Amino acid sequence: MTKRVLYLIACAAGPTQYMDRGVRCAQAAGWDTCVILTPAAARWWEDRLDELAELTGHRVRSQYKLPGESDALPKADAMLVAPLSCTSLNKWGAGIADTLALGLVSEGVHMGVPVTAMPYFNQAQGAQPAVAHSIAALRKQGVQYLDGPDGYEPHPPKRGNPEGFPWDVALAALNLHTQSRDA
Ligand SMILES: Cc1cc2nc3c(=O)[nH]c(=O)nc-3n(C[C@H](O)[C@H](O)[C@H](O)COP(=O)(O)O)c2cc1C
Repeated sequence: MTKRVLYLIACAAGPTQYMDRGVRCAQAAGWDTCVILTPAAARWWEDRLDELAELTGHRVRSQYKLPGESDALPKADAMLVAPLSCTSLNKWGAGIADTLALGLVSEGVHMGVPVTAMPYFNQAQGAQPAVAHSIAALRKQGVQYLDGPDGYEPHPPKRGNPEGFPWDVALAALNLHTQSRDA
């Protein structure tokens, strides 16, 4: 049986430094995993993109393709944005899709693809009034947004633990989300 395809999408937020752990976790959960980075996140990995490509067996994408260019990745069965930065959260909530990462999820959720997002930002970033509006806008569209006890709670400024990002929790929630869609 062919494996289901997951787009693991990461923004320039602390845990993205350890993105390979997220990939391994997704692979262990049975997903054929493709990595998509925001352009800002791709800068963090620019010297090691080959590592991620080798690990996943797919090109790592971070830019929109050109008109006429064919798709580099197989079609997604599900998408997980982890970690979701505060900036991308607010752009997504406002309907701005100026990165491939946001374009994929903005359209994907309205094309029936299950989309889950696990944020990672601090309490000072999370205190911006736009954040609550953006979370509500995402949930209204059917995005599974993981915060509170079931996900990631913003940490006090300068007190994050990016290495401890709970990729496994995000993947378990995504699994339930996809199963509920399939039922
Ligand atoms: C070293 C560094 C660490 C950062 N960590 C975070 C973070 O954990 N969460 C967050 O929301 N933004 C963080 N930022 C800010 C984002 O990188 C910035 O808002 C960026 O524009 C996000 O773009 P993207 O969402 O397109 O990746 C960090 C910035 C730097 C330079």
